[in-house]
Amino acid sequence: QQQDDYAVMEQVARFFQHQLRQNGNSKKAIDYLKNRGLSGDIVKQWEIGYAPDSWDALLNTFGKDPQRIKQLVDLKLVNKNDQGRTYDFFRDRIMFPIRDKRGRVVGFGGRVLDDGGPKYLNSPETRIFHKGSELFGFYSARQKNRSLDTVVIVEGYMDVVALSQFDINIATAALGTATTPEHIQMLVRATSHIVCCYDGDRAGREAAWRALENALPALKDGVRISFLFLPDGEDPDTMVRQVGKDAFMDMLNDAMPLSRFFFENLLKTHNVGTPEGKIALKKAAMPLIESTLGDDQKQMLLEELAKHTGE
Ligand code: CTP
Ligand code: MN
Ligand code: MN
Ligand code: MN
Ligand code: MN
Repeated sequence: QQQDDYAVMEQVARFFQHQLRQNGNSKKAIDYLKNRGLSGDIVKQWEIGYAPDSWDALLNTFGKDPQRIKQLVDLKLVNKNDQGRTYDFFRDRIMFPIRDKRGRVVGFGGRVLDDGGPKYLNSPETRIFHKGSELFGFYSARQKNRSLDTVVIVEGYMDVVALSQFDINIATAALGTATTPEHIQMLVRATSHIVCCYDGDRAGREAAWRALENALPALKDGVRISFLFLPDGEDPDTMVRQVGKDAFMDMLNDAMPLSRFFFENLLKTHNVGTPEGKIALKKAAMPLIESTLGDDQKQMLLEELAKHTGE
């Protein structure tokens, strides 16, 4: 009788956790986490682990028979090369288990301990793991809050974990992909306020606009989305460590409303000082405005657009 995929993933998460304490490289791994400012408590809470620096540590522990090895390959915990050789997928990495919205471990994110690359390795898609529809930290945020008045979307695992260390338990991360319409839909069902808080760099600002585009079709009236732009070079992890919980919460409360980001961004590339510019702005804005689900939202954006085009 084949063991359930989810049960295997759960055991593998335990294995990585155990390795963080028991492996020959424990000190290196634990020192890394300490240097990142993580408390032992928070490491435990997030079930952070360590994948041994070995080609077959996981394989030897779990790959007892050919059927089980196939399952590990299917779950992308083990790779199989062209010659049919199998070996551990995650090696010498800090491991973050990713739980789905029901709390089942469906994948992992693994970070290198130095500045080698790739910095993060995520489980590839499997029959139980669909990146575009999973949010790291979402299950935990739901567990920790009776109701989620606000949810913050951040870029990284470390951002979610650092915020929680500062008692901000409302953050969730897309897994190295853009924020997808599915992500937004999940959040729209769970909260009335989504704050996008990406890294204070060019990639982060571009990600914010893509999130806006993906959010519009899912935003029913009664759910709003805001954008918190961090100073250049900061991410939520570094930011909260600098300013602390209260100041970070203030920043979240003062995040830019959608309507403002929408027009500020469009007005960067359209000069409404000319009639041509006004028409171009309208052309760019209308499809987005039309895509919104909420009537109030649509009305508001249309009125705002009229102000800029002078109609
Ligand atoms: N990411 C990824 N693969 C990479 C780089 C990044 O999947 N090679 C994803 C990860 O989910 C990462 C997120 O994109 O958490 C944000 O990237 P980045 O800002 O570079 O990483 P941080 O989360 O800030 O990582 P750290 O603080 O650990 O350096
Ligand atoms: Mn599925
Ligand atoms: Mn970044
Ligand atoms: Mn970071
Ligand atoms: Mn970052």
